[in-house]
Amino acid sequence: MTDIKGFHHLTVGVAGAQEDVDFYVKLLGQSLIKKTVLLDGEDPIYHLYYGNAQGDAGTLVTSFPFRQIGVKARPGSGQIRVINYSVPAGALDFWRARFESQGIPFDKEVISRFGEQRQRFYHPCGIEFDLVASDKDDRPPCESPDIPAQFAIRGVHSITLSLREVHESIIFMKDALGFDYAGEHGPYHRFQVADGTPGTVVEFLHEPDRLQGSSIYGEGTIHHVAFAVDSVEQQLALKEKLFAMGHIDTSESVDRNYFRSMYFKMPGGVMFEAATTDIGFAIDEPADQLGSQFQTPSWLTDRKEELLQRLEPISV
Ligand SMILES: [Fe+2]
Repeated sequence: MTDIKGFHHLTVGVAGAQEDVDFYVKLLGQSLIKKTVLLDGEDPIYHLYYGNAQGDAGTLVTSFPFRQIGVKARPGSGQIRVINYSVPAGALDFWRARFESQGIPFDKEVISRFGEQRQRFYHPCGIEFDLVASDKDDRPPCESPDIPAQFAIRGVHSITLSLREVHESIIFMKDALGFDYAGEHGPYHRFQVADGTPGTVVEFLHEPDRLQGSSIYGEGTIHHVAFAVDSVEQQLALKEKLFAMGHIDTSESVDRNYFRSMYFKMPGGVMFEAATTDIGFAIDEPADQLGSQFQTPSWLTDRKEELLQRLEPISV
C-alpha cells in the first residue's frame, strides 16, 4: 500500500536567481538549504532549495532560474497554478504590511475558502502564491530576525491545480493516490491525505476555458509537485498500482542525490512525483550549515568551479 505523507517539494521555473533568493529568504523568511545545479543540457542552471532551516519535507520549494538561458514556459491549465503557504491564524495583517513596505504586489482583498482566510501575493516572475491562515499547523516556524514566530510561515499548506476537466482526476486522487475528497466550493475541489492538516491538502480549480499550458522547464510556471514517500519500495508499489490502472506513463526511480524520484502525469496533465525521505540534505554538508556552499553531484565534482563561474552570482 502506498503511503503518501503529504508534500515533499514543489519545483518552479523562475526568472533571475538573486531576485528569487530575495523573495524566499529576505521576504518570506525561508532558508536557502541547498545551492546546486541542473545540468541536463550544455548550460548550467542553478537548482535552489528553500524551506525551513532543517530542510523538512513539506516545507520545500525549489527553483530553476531560467532567465540566464532565456527559456520561457507558458502558463495554463494542466499545471499547478498556486503555491499556498501556511501561516498562523491572525498573521495576515503582518504580511500585508510587509508586502506593502517591500513593494511586493498583493491583492487588496483577503478571501475565504473552505473556512480559511487567504491572502494572494506574487513572485517577481508572476507566479501566484497564497498565505493561508490556519490554527491547525503545529510545524515549527520558519523564523527570521524580522519575522516573529507568531506570524512565520510553517511550510507549504496546499497546492491549487488548474484543470480543464476534473472527472478522471478526482478518481485518480482517491483511487491511485489515496487522498480523501474533502469538499467542493464553487469551481474548487479539495482533497486531503493523512490527517488533512496543512501540508497534506490538494485543491483543483476547474477552469474549462483555460488553454493548456506547457509542461517544459522554463521561466514562469510551476513545473511539478513531489509527494513524500518513505522509500524506493513505496515508489515501486505506487508504480505498480498506476500500471494496474492503466497509467503506464511513469518514470523509473531516478537518483536526485538528496532523494529518489519517480515521475508520473495525473489525468489532468499535471506532472507529479513521488520523492523518498530516506536520504536527506545532510549528505554533502553539515546539517547546521545547509545551503552554505555550492554543491555538485558526484559526477560533476571536477567541474564545480567552471560551472559556478558560468552562473549568476547570488548572495543571501
Ligand atoms: Fe522534483
